[in-house]
Amino acid sequence: MLPAHIGIIMDGNGRWAEKQGKPRLYGHRAGTEVAKKTVLAARDRGVEYLTLFAFSTENWKRPVAEVQGLFLLMEEFFRNESSELARSGAKLNIIGDRSRLPWPVRSVVSGAEKITAGGSRITVNVALNYGGRWDVVSATRQIAEDVAQGRIDMSDIGEDLVSSRLATSGQPNPDLIIRTGGESRISNFMLWQAAYSEIYVMDILWPDFRAEDLDEAIEFFQSRSRRYGGLESGPHDGRGERG
Ligand code: FPP
Repeated sequence: MLPAHIGIIMDGNGRWAEKQGKPRLYGHRAGTEVAKKTVLAARDRGVEYLTLFAFSTENWKRPVAEVQGLFLLMEEFFRNESSELARSGAKLNIIGDRSRLPWPVRSVVSGAEKITAGGSRITVNVALNYGGRWDVVSATRQIAEDVAQGRIDMSDIGEDLVSSRLATSGQPNPDLIIRTGGESRISNFMLWQAAYSEIYVMDILWPDFRAEDLDEAIEFFQSRSRRYGGLESGPHDGRGERG
């Protein structure tokens, strides 16, 4: 069975550039191009949801010039590619704390969401200033507010309610998380949603990632027996897991 939702931690842009004696941003630019191609490849394979970890809540610790360069790249990406992504059936959905994003980025991503709103073949979550802990804190705040306002009762709070207040509300959890660049860490990516995800670490650096690598990761996923803490094996739709 095909994973309905794939998350990707796109790591290795900097190393890829440095290996060629180029500035790190050169790698990020190449990585952006690969991100677009990966959206199309995932769509062609019938993947319904793709989450790309583009900028984490921790990435602010990088040198100012790199952070600014990354935001300029993102701005350019959303400005130039949204129409083509819309035509290709992709729906862009930005997840993360937008309040700290530079305003040109905020404005261009809102535009990109509007332009691609009709996309029905693949939903692409672009995680921008996203962190799994931020997501849980944000959900907790919304729930606390609802309790304080009397809209819900303490006894209503359960896993389904928490899930519904996360940035991925209404979406299946990622069945498969791919991390390029060889490090086996989750790095604050979809902490709640990743509870039962298969994780596939690849040594390849993100700018070298191709459709065949996506296929390799999907084959890995398909070869796994997924038990969810129980005894049953076989594919699962990613919703409502327990155990
Ligand atoms: C990790 O490489 C990559 C990032 C922090 C940025 C990822 C962003 C992109 C690929 C652009 C995607 C853009 C869109 C709009 C989807 P790294 O710099 O940590 O690499 P290193 O581990 O080799 O230093």
